[in-house]
Amino acid sequence: MPTNLLEALDAATRELGSISETARLDAEVLLAHAIGKNRAYLRAWPERLLQAEEERRFLAYLAERARGVPVAYLTGAREFWSRSFNVSPEVLIPRPETELLVELAIEAARCKNRPRILDLGTGSGAIAVTLALECPDAEVWAVDISESALALARRNADELGAKTIRFLQGSWLAPLPAGIRFDLIVSNPPYVSPTDPHLLRGDVRYEPRQALVSAEDGLQDIALIAGNAGPWLPPGGGLMFEHGFDQADAVAAILGKLDYRDVRRYRDLQGHERVTAARRAPEE
Ligand SMILES: C[S@@+](CC[C@H](N)C(=O)[O-])C[C@H]1O[C@@H](n2cnc3c(N)ncnc32)[C@H](O)[C@@H]1O
Repeated sequence: MPTNLLEALDAATRELGSISETARLDAEVLLAHAIGKNRAYLRAWPERLLQAEEERRFLAYLAERARGVPVAYLTGAREFWSRSFNVSPEVLIPRPETELLVELAIEAARCKNRPRILDLGTGSGAIAVTLALECPDAEVWAVDISESALALARRNADELGAKTIRFLQGSWLAPLPAGIRFDLIVSNPPYVSPTDPHLLRGDVRYEPRQALVSAEDGLQDIALIAGNAGPWLPPGGGLMFEHGFDQADAVAAILGKLDYRDVRRYRDLQGHERVTAARRAPEE
């Protein structure tokens, strides 16, 4: 007997209950994607029958989700700062926590006339594209080591209308032309310790290790960027990191030992210190 949307949703929610804390939401997003509609449609038409092809697609998504594949990799999209970004298994799925870094960067950029901003480790381009769109007079540059991540970031920039971002491939500051200076450098680098047990659970198992893991308790890349960013910042230029909820002390210590001043830590909506910012010290 054909299944209607509500029945399909209820069955899927039960099936995903053991693997996902957001089983209902996952089921709604996947069902809406399988029938090419949005979630509001599911609520408006609960008795609408699923066509055979739609049901086949939905069951295929469900099987993948039950294996643990993140919903965003199945739908190919994730919302960030109220815009839909294309995502693929080549990039980290943008997180709501990262909106704190973006909010602080927008505030910092608005104090400047035609600011030049650099996003290190751009991944899907979530940070760079949002900054370019929210600060239209900014000149935004973005770097990633992964060619495939950059291809996706370029596509997001094109589709969302942030056509002037300069994308460069390479390791952190290495691909930048000598002599250029940025008013603000932001980064959400890999910061998970290689021994963190969370790497073995949930969605992160499917995300690129290169986007997640950093040596030295997760701090190696933050230390590398902070240690090398000096020549790309004018005195007073800002450096801003997202980091793990328990890494604020360590990041402040790294910045404190280098040529930075005004080290500040910021909390996200959960009350966790997720962003630390500093300024390059004035020249003596
Ligand atoms: C945590 S993800 C952040 C992605 C995106 N900015 C976001 O916030 O959703 C870190 C990114 O850093 C990139 N990355 C890792 N090592 C790098 C390196 N040595 N140089 C440049 N990018 C690197 C990864 O490919 C990945 O895209």
